[in-house]
Amino acid sequence: MINKGTGWDIEKVRRDFPILREQVYGKPLTYLDNAATTQKPQIVIDTLTQYYAKENANIHRGIFCLSEQATKRYKSARHKVQGFLHAASDQEIIFVRGTTEAINLVAHCYGKTFLKPGDEVLIPHMEHHSNIVPWQILAEQNGIKLKVAPINDQGELMMEEFVKLLTDRVKFVSVVHVSNALGTVNSVKEIVRLAHAKGIPVLVDGAQAVAHTSVDVQDLGCDFYAFSGHKLLGPTGVGVLYGRKELLEKMPPYQGGGDMIRSVSFEKTVYNDLPYKFEAGTPHIAGVIGLGAAIDYISGIGLDRIEVHEQELLKYGTKKLLEVPGLRIIGTAKQKSAILSFVLGEAHAHDIGTILDRQGIAIRAGHHCAMPVMQRFKVPATTRASLAFYNTVEEIDRMVAALHEVTEVFQ
Ligand code: ALA
Repeated sequence: MINKGTGWDIEKVRRDFPILREQVYGKPLTYLDNAATTQKPQIVIDTLTQYYAKENANIHRGIFCLSEQATKRYKSARHKVQGFLHAASDQEIIFVRGTTEAINLVAHCYGKTFLKPGDEVLIPHMEHHSNIVPWQILAEQNGIKLKVAPINDQGELMMEEFVKLLTDRVKFVSVVHVSNALGTVNSVKEIVRLAHAKGIPVLVDGAQAVAHTSVDVQDLGCDFYAFSGHKLLGPTGVGVLYGRKELLEKMPPYQGGGDMIRSVSFEKTVYNDLPYKFEAGTPHIAGVIGLGAAIDYISGIGLDRIEVHEQELLKYGTKKLLEVPGLRIIGTAKQKSAILSFVLGEAHAHDIGTILDRQGIAIRAGHHCAMPVMQRFKVPATTRASLAFYNTVEEIDRMVAALHEVTEVFQ
């Protein structure tokens, strides 16, 4: 059936994802854990298979045909990422293992070099552990201070408080684009504007954004932007750090090894140019090529249409969930991505998750690697449905019907 808002046939889109035809406990899989990882379209699976079956060779090393081809495809994937993020140059695209490694790279290479004891790093209260712990490690090792900007009861960053905390001591701001636990979409462009007015660089964790909205790093103005391939229909173990060339050039390498050097002797090693300076050792070649295929695929679908469809699902899902007696949504920001985090009466999130699982419904239960968010809302855990463009109204209905059953069990 053609959706009026998006103009696409959702059943046709779903056929691109073989796993969506699977059954769990004899029930059709209802996959609503897309914030944890997205499913992979056939073209990404085929690209990986094709690479290993017919094209496998190391890059930047061989002078034989296969190696040259693999090098070309790796390079072309970098170019695709550059276009996808609207970066000024493909030298600003560093392949890493994922968002976590990207943030650790910045904390390590930028933080250890440019932040001094007593300097402050400012983050919002809604951050994922991967945008908290690297800064805490830096605090332990280098004496920087981590400062946290509060969020309100809707799960939105309190901008007035943020501005107050943005003092002259703050030397770095790190902020999530879309909160994985609440769905809040931060006003990243405004945050960057405020920080840059004081000469403070900004890193944006885009893990939950890139598969749901189009990102233009030059328009946002951010200095660093991080995301993971596997949350963008691509393989696990590969991700991207975008960094402004000027900053990347000033930063020391992250790891030492092959490929990140121009020349090595026992007296002196000269590092390679960007982006290779930050890519020591054989990279995840298949992963990078697979990520390129994922970017081609999602660009073909169109992030504008994806956003329309997911916002429709969010609106519908919110309304339906609120009809479940005793259900409270955690995260009700005005600007929200299609993440539905909730608590349900006295039922523990893990029990809800288990009951739903028996019906083939995959949702996440727990703290979502954002324990401080749970502490802020005084809940031990939430149940979370996170949607993607291949999800349907029928799947939301299935989840909501199962939740009505949960309320009966716990009555
Ligand atoms: N950070 C991922 C999530 O939110 C794993 O589920």
